[in-house]
Amino acid sequence: MKFNIMKKNIVFLFALIISLSAFPEDGSRLWLRYSTVNTNKNLFSGILGNSESTPCKEFDQAWKSMSHVSLTHNKSIIDKILVIGTGKDNFIQSLKISSELKQLGSEGYLIRSFKVKNDSITVIAANTDIGLLYGVYHLLRLIQLNQFARSLDIKEKPSYSVRILNHWDNLDGSVERGYAGHSIFWRYEEEHPTVTDKDIIMWKEYARANASIGINGTALNNVNASPKMLSGEYLQKVKAIAEVMRPFGIKVYLSINFSSPSALGGLKTSDPLDKEVVKWWSVKVKEIYHSIPDFGGFLVKANSEGLPGPQDFGRTHADGANMLADALKPYGGIVMWRAFVYNPGEKDRAKQAYSEFMPLDGQFRDNVIIQVKNGPIDFQPREAFNPLFGAMKKTSIMPELQITQEYLGQGNHLVFLAPMWKELFDTDTHTEGNGTTIANLTTGQVYPQKITAIAGVANIGNDANWCGHHFAQSNWYAFGRLAWNNQLTSDEIAKEWITMTFSNSNHEPLSDDPQTQIKKIMLQSREAVISYMMPLGLHHLFAWEHHYGPEPWCAVSGARPDWLPSYYHKADSVGLGFNRTTTGSDAVSQYSSPLREKYNDISTCPENLILWFHHVPWDYRMKNGRSLWDELCYTYDSGVMQVRDFQKVWDKTEPYIDTQRFSEIQSKLRIQARDAVWWKDACLLYFQTYSKRPIPYDIERPVHELDDLKKIKLDLKQHN
Ligand code: GCU
Repeated sequence: MKFNIMKKNIVFLFALIISLSAFPEDGSRLWLRYSTVNTNKNLFSGILGNSESTPCKEFDQAWKSMSHVSLTHNKSIIDKILVIGTGKDNFIQSLKISSELKQLGSEGYLIRSFKVKNDSITVIAANTDIGLLYGVYHLLRLIQLNQFARSLDIKEKPSYSVRILNHWDNLDGSVERGYAGHSIFWRYEEEHPTVTDKDIIMWKEYARANASIGINGTALNNVNASPKMLSGEYLQKVKAIAEVMRPFGIKVYLSINFSSPSALGGLKTSDPLDKEVVKWWSVKVKEIYHSIPDFGGFLVKANSEGLPGPQDFGRTHADGANMLADALKPYGGIVMWRAFVYNPGEKDRAKQAYSEFMPLDGQFRDNVIIQVKNGPIDFQPREAFNPLFGAMKKTSIMPELQITQEYLGQGNHLVFLAPMWKELFDTDTHTEGNGTTIANLTTGQVYPQKITAIAGVANIGNDANWCGHHFAQSNWYAFGRLAWNNQLTSDEIAKEWITMTFSNSNHEPLSDDPQTQIKKIMLQSREAVISYMMPLGLHHLFAWEHHYGPEPWCAVSGARPDWLPSYYHKADSVGLGFNRTTTGSDAVSQYSSPLREKYNDISTCPENLILWFHHVPWDYRMKNGRSLWDELCYTYDSGVMQVRDFQKVWDKTEPYIDTQRFSEIQSKLRIQARDAVWWKDACLLYFQTYSKRPIPYDIERPVHELDDLKKIKLDLKQHN
C-alpha cells in the first residue's frame, strides 16, 4: 500500500515552519503546496480575526509556508492588516456592507480593499465561518497567482448549493472504477470498522483539499451500495468521518441499498409503500441524525444494473424517492436519485432514462433531486448531452460528471476534463428558446429548482498522490472550481492548477513558457483522447472486462447486447454508426427543436456526433471533402500525433519540474502514446474489414496485426 508517511507528514510539517525542500515531490500536497513563490513577506502586517477559527488557522498555516513569516494577531487596525470576520463582528459592521453580505448566502464571501484613515487594509467578510474559509482560499490563490492587489473588490457565491463528490468505495476498501489505490474511508476488516489516527490525518487533508476548491459534500460509499452501510457500527465510522469534515464545511452523504429494510432490517419486504418499511426508514434516519446532526442525505441507484428498487414492488421511482425524502425531510436531508437506468431489450439504451423519468416529472418531493449523467449512455469520451436536461421542468435536476477516468485511459492517460464539462454546461438545449444552456438550467435560472447540486464521481484513493496520475489531480481541482463557478474557463482553471501544483526546484513559479506549454497539453488532451479512441461520435468500443483498451470486435456468447460494442458502432459493409434519427431509434425526438431537426439531418448534424446519430456510408462526403472512411483514419492518426507532441512538450519542461513528478509523468505519457497506437490500429484494422478501403497512404501504417490485438487480455488488477 502506497499510502504512507507522506500524507501523515503533511499536517505536522505544515504546522511547523520547515523548509519546503524537505518534501519529496510525490504529489501528496496537491495544489496546496504553498511554496515560496516570490511571496512578498510584507504583504500583510498582521491578522484581525478569530485566531482559533478554521479560516484564520488555514491562512496562518499557508502564509507561514509561503513566506516563512508568522503573522501576528492584532487587535486593532494597522496598515496592511488582513481582517477576517463575519457580519457579527463589530469591525465588519462598521464597514456598512451588511446589505451586500445578505446577498451572499451562507457560503458566499467578499474580499475587498479598504482605506481606514491612512491605512490600507484587506477584508474577507462573510455570513458564516465557511464563507470566510472559502474567502481565505480565494485570497491564498490570488497570492500564489501573483494577483494580489491593494484594490481588490471580489464578491462570490457558488453556482450550485450542493457540490458533492461521489466515492464509489466499497466497504472492503476496493474502489469501483478507482485507479489510485484503495479507499480512503474503508478497508477490509475482519470484524468491525475501525478509525485510526492515520485515518483522521488523511481525512483532514482530504477535507482541506475539498474546501479549498469549494466542495461541500461527500458521498462515502459506492452507489452499488451494500446494505451493511447502514448498520450501527458502520454509522459510527461515518460519524467519525463527519466530525473531521465539519470544520471544513463538508457534509457527509451515504449511498443506500433500496432493499436495506429486508436485507439489513429483516423485514419481509422493502416495498416503499409498506408501513413497516416506511417506519424502518424513519427510525434509521433518526438514528443517523442523532449521531450526525448535519448529515446531508441519501444517494440512490435503484432498478439499475441489477440493483433493487421500487419497481421490484410495482412502484415507481417517484414512490421510492419520496418515501426516503419524507424520512429525511424533518432533518433537512435530501435524496439524490439517479437517472442512470436501462434494461436489455429492443429500445435504444440512449432513450431509456428519458422514457422512464419524463412521465414522473412533477411527482417528486421538493427535497428530491434527480442525478443525471452528462450523456445518455455512460461517461463516454464524447456523448450527445442527456435529453433529460431541460426536459424535466418541474423536477430538480443535477448533473453527474465522472472525474475518475473509467473510459478515458484510467490511471494512465493525461486527460484534462474541464473542456468536456464546459461543453456540457455551454450546451444550449433550446427547451425555452435560445440560451437555455445546461449551466442555466441546472442552476435553477430557467425553471425554479428548490435544490441545485452537482456531483462528480471521485478519482481519489490512498495512493501517495491521491489520484494515481499526477495530472488527474487537475480533474479533482477542475470539478470543484466549476461546481463553485460554472462560468470559469478551462484555460483559467488550468492556469491556476499548474501555478499552484508545479514550481521549479528552487520553488520559483514556472516561467511563462513552460506554463503555457503544459496548459496547451491540458487543453488539447480531451480532444486528443477522443481522436485516438472514439472520434466522430463513436462510443463504447471498449473491451468487455475493463473499459480500458479497444475491442470493437468483442463478442461474448450470451452477453447482453447493450454491453457489446457492436450494439453501438453497427459497422457493416454499408457504413458505420447508430441510426438514432426518425428512421432509426428516433432518439433525436427526445431533444427540443431545432436540435432534433439538426441532429436528424445528416447534413446539419455536428460531425463530432455524426456516428452517434447516423449510420453513415463509408463514402459519405464529410465537410472537408474526405470520405467518412478517410476522415476516420486521419482523425485516429491525429490523436496519435497529438500524444506524441505531448511527449515532446513534456520532455522540454524537465528543467522546471521536480524530478520525481517529471519522470513519473514522462512514463505515463509513454504508456499513453503506446495505447493511442493500439487504439488506432485496433479500430482501423477492424473497421477496415467492413469498409474494404485502404488506409490513406500518407498515414503511418499500423504496427500491429488485428489477430494479435484480438488476443490481448489485460491484467485486470492493473486496469480495473
Ligand atoms: C458504469 C460503471 C459501473 C457503475 C455504473 C453507475 O456502468 O461501469 O461501474 O456502477 O456506471 O454509474 O452506476
